[in-house]
Formats: sequence, C-alpha cells, structure tokens
Amino acid sequence: MADFATLIDDAEVIVCCGSGGVGKTTTAAVLGLEAARTGRRVVVVTIDPARRLADALGLADGLAAEPQRIDLAGSPGVAASGELWAMMLDTEATFDGLVHRFAEDERQVERILSNPLYRNMAGAMSGTQEYMAAETLHALHGDDRFDLVVVDTPPSRNALDFLEAPGVLARFLDHRAFKLLMLPTKTGLKVLGSAAQPLLKAIGRIVGSDVLADSVAFFQAFSGMESGFHDRADEVVALIRAPETSFVVVAAPRHDAIDEAVWFAEQLVEQGVGVRAAVINRMQPAFGVGSAGDAAGETAAASDPVVAALWANVAELRTLREQEQAVISPLVDIAGADAVATLPLLDSDVHDLDGLWTIAAHLFRDADPISPSG
Ligand SMILES: Nc1ncnc2c1ncn2[C@@H]1O[C@H](COP(=O)(O)OP(=O)(O)O)[C@@H](O)[C@H]1O
Ligand SMILES: [Mg+2]
Repeated sequence: MADFATLIDDAEVIVCCGSGGVGKTTTAAVLGLEAARTGRRVVVVTIDPARRLADALGLADGLAAEPQRIDLAGSPGVAASGELWAMMLDTEATFDGLVHRFAEDERQVERILSNPLYRNMAGAMSGTQEYMAAETLHALHGDDRFDLVVVDTPPSRNALDFLEAPGVLARFLDHRAFKLLMLPTKTGLKVLGSAAQPLLKAIGRIVGSDVLADSVAFFQAFSGMESGFHDRADEVVALIRAPETSFVVVAAPRHDAIDEAVWFAEQLVEQGVGVRAAVINRMQPAFGVGSAGDAAGETAAASDPVVAALWANVAELRTLREQEQAVISPLVDIAGADAVATLPLLDSDVHDLDGLWTIAAHLFRDADPISPSG
C-alpha cells in the first residue's frame, strides 16, 4: 500500500495532476485535510472554478483568491497545531502581482496593465494558467503561515506545461524579433525609428495596425523587466523540480484515463521529476476475498437457487474489478505497486467534509492493496 502518510508528512509541495474529472481536486483536498489532521499547516490551491470544493469545505461564499481558513472544529481527531486553508487560483491577479513586483515604477505598471495585449495574455494565453499556478505555489511555499502547499493542476494534457510554462514568458520577452521592435526606443535614435517604419507598416497590414501598435507598446512596456521575470521563473522551476516537491498522478480505472496518466508519469520520469504516488479513483470495490473464478465455482456448487444467484452476482462484480486491475497495470508498473493507492467508487458525490473524510479513511487507513493484475 502506498505510503501516503509519509508523503503528507515530509513533502513541502504536492502537485496533483491528471486529466479532467478523475478526482484531482478531491484528492488535493483529502491530502490537505489529512495533513492538517496530523498537525501540519496546509494550504490547498485549486483552479477548479466550480463551487463544489468550496461547498465541501463549508465555505458558503466560495473560494477567494486569498487563503481562507477552513473550520475543522466539527472534525474529530484534528491535532491542535493542524490548520487547513484553501484558495482558488486567480490567474490574472497573480500575473498583475508579478508586474507590480518587477516594474520600475507605477507608470510602467499602468502602461502594462492597460495594454490590451497584456490583458489578453494574462487572461487567456495558453500556459499562463500553469505558469501562474506555479508562481502561486512558489509564493505560498515561501509564506510562513504554511508548512505544506497542495496544488491541483489545470486539466492539461501535458505535464510538461506545468514544468515549462514559467520559462515561456521569459523566453518570449527575450525573443530576438521583439528586441528588434524595441530597438528604436532603446537607442532613442529617430533614424532607426524611421528605418523600422516600412517593416512595421508591412507587419501592420498583416496583423492590423491596432494589434501592431499594442504589441510594440507591450514589449516596450516590459522593457527592463526581462531579468526579473527570468530569475523568478528560474526559482519557480527549481522549486517544482526540488526534492521537497512531490507529484501525485490521479487517474480513473479506464483505458483512456490510464493511458493519459501513464503518459504524464513517463514525462515526469523523463524530466527527472518522477512520480511520488498515484491514486486510482473510483475503482469497483472488492467483494470479499477470492476471484471471479472462485465465485463462479460457488455458483455452480450451490444447491439453493437463491444462493447460486447471489454468487453469480458476486462473480460478475469481481469480474469487473479484475478487468479494472488489468486496465490499471501499466500505471502500477510505471509508478511502482508500492506507490499506488486505489479509492472505491462511493455511492454519492463528495460534497461535504464528511465525504472528504470518507475518502481520507480509504487513502490513509484501509486503502485496498494492489493485487497482481490478471
Ligand atoms: N471516489 C469517488 N466516488 C464518488 N464520487 C467521486 C469520487 N471521487 C470524486 N468524485 C466526484 O467526482 C467529481 C469529479 O471530481 P473532481 O475531484 O472535481 O475531479 P477533477 O478535479 O479531476 O476534475 C466530483 O463531483 C466529485 O465529488
Ligand atoms: Mg478539479
């Protein structure tokens, strides 16, 4: 059985990744909840805009962009020092915060924040969400209020987005073409400025002169901040790859979800980051001890037709579970059987603290062992 107790005890950052809908947000909340129970001060960051997690945590007004303390008074057995906080990632506000941090003065901040291209990028450019999630994680890791940061990643198909996104903007700002556009103002020479005019006009005809003016202004506005962004991105990437950061892959016991999880895990291994643990969520529960074949034998041997019918049902349910065990085996192989836990499909959605505690009990106290696939 995977040692999740050690994980929540020694990690400083836990990143839950996997495809959409498999249970990432639930897993992040459960890891945070249990870590708080054992006395750590934990903040869970979610990018889930749905109200569900907020409701589950008892936050009537939803999650805010600032960490909010969760009331665990009604939960038994929580260590006195344990604290659970939760917040929702605010991509745009986080990006604005970086601009404030690295700009030379208020005028530069204003120039950037009012630029339409910036607004568009801060809100929608691909990778920005991953970048800001990583940035938020870095900021919270440095916050004295917390011992552990658990983050629920965007439902990206690509684990590398999260590892590489922080460097993307820095590289973007370094790009030669943009350096060229900035040249006229950097040198302050009108001659260069007018020499660049035909080129700018030509580009303007293609992309539209408004867009061009915005983008020239955009790169001019960022001038001088390149190294600040660079250094910060390097720090963020270093933290994501540090030994105190653990990746947990979450998957469902279906071919498509397992394929995706394996692909994630392979990328993480290739990048030298590795997978600390995997959670396979919504497995068919085990029905007693024994195989589907055993139950089929009991069905045939039973003289009472009612008992035979019951055994036939057990045989069917065990067959489903055995099929799932076979489906998950590629993920078990890559993560290692010791690092995998399965969670049963519950008969209802996880919509309150009790639901989260139920999942926690399975993950930390009686997770089903991974039986050899067959
Ligand atoms: N083991 C489970 N049994 C029943 N419902 C579950 C289980 N795990 C998660 N859910 C429910 O499935 C939905 C998706 O889970 P969620 O954690 O939001 O997934 P993700 O963050 O990966 O998109 C939620 O409504 C959640 O309550
Ligand atoms: Mg989610």
